[in-house]
Amino acid sequence: MSDFGTGERIIIVGGGGFGRELVSHVGDTHRAGMAPPLGGYLDDAGDVMAAFGHYGHVAFLGRLDDYQPRPGDLFTLAVGAPRTKKAIAERLKIRGARFATIVHPSAITSPTCRMGEGVIVGTHAGPGVDTVLGDFVTLNSYSGVGHDASIGDYTTISGHVDVTGGTRIGEGVFIGSNASILPRVKIGDWANVGAGSIVYRTIRAGSTVYAPPAKLLKKGQLALAPDPAVRKPDGAGSRFP
Ligand SMILES: CC(C)(COP(=O)(O)OP(=O)(O)OC[C@H]1O[C@@H](n2cnc3c(N)ncnc32)[C@H](O)[C@@H]1OP(=O)(O)O)[C@@H](O)C(=O)NCCC(=O)NCCS
Repeated sequence: MSDFGTGERIIIVGGGGFGRELVSHVGDTHRAGMAPPLGGYLDDAGDVMAAFGHYGHVAFLGRLDDYQPRPGDLFTLAVGAPRTKKAIAERLKIRGARFATIVHPSAITSPTCRMGEGVIVGTHAGPGVDTVLGDFVTLNSYSGVGHDASIGDYTTISGHVDVTGGTRIGEGVFIGSNASILPRVKIGDWANVGAGSIVYRTIRAGSTVYAPPAKLLKKGQLALAPDPAVRKPDGAGSRFP
């Protein structure tokens, strides 16, 4: 991605831990010629980076609702929670905002991966062949997405996650660190997958699962049809009824 225009700049939305990580992420990507320079950050809580003492080079641009997007601004959302990400994206879209897709230069990205707007691909992440990352997907550091997998809009995949081939991850899903999603599994919209889970069969929309192998912690309200292509391990029965 080197087709950014003159006068474009990246604005980070959120000055928390993820926002501070994005400062170096955007810097690395810019130095590699793959993104415009950093223009500053927004945060409703004020200049929260100032407390750290070493972010003086990052301009605090104000609160989200007080900021009027300029023509060259490209926003990136430093937000992990999918619902918050969606709410903020909608607040900005109604003001005509445009969003950057920022792929760290250390990521190994297949040329046949298709990405939407507002995507963040972290350090050493690996979106594989013929994968689809929807709008505002966050694929954090060291996480892989196997061939033909698709990831729905607003989904956040934490660090060191293995999304294997042919999986279908819905919209607004949160996948915790070090989880493994086995081949061809479907995960319904707005589901949560706990850190370290091994997900071996379909998860209903809105459900929360955790642990290896993943057990149901909270049942979602929306049903997702079981995928007959997904083999149940012996005795797995109805862990995700
Ligand atoms: C699964 C998860 C979403 C559940 O959160 P929660 O609804 O607040 O659940 P709680 O913390 O109350 O835990 C409920 C029970 O599940 C257990 N549990 C929670 N997460 C677990 C996990 N990932 N693996 C194994 N057990 C887990 C807790 O020990 C607790 O057990 P208990 O009832 O016997 O005490 C959360 O624990 C998690 O794993 N989030 C992912 C965090 C992450 O990876 N973030 C990315 C970095 S920013």
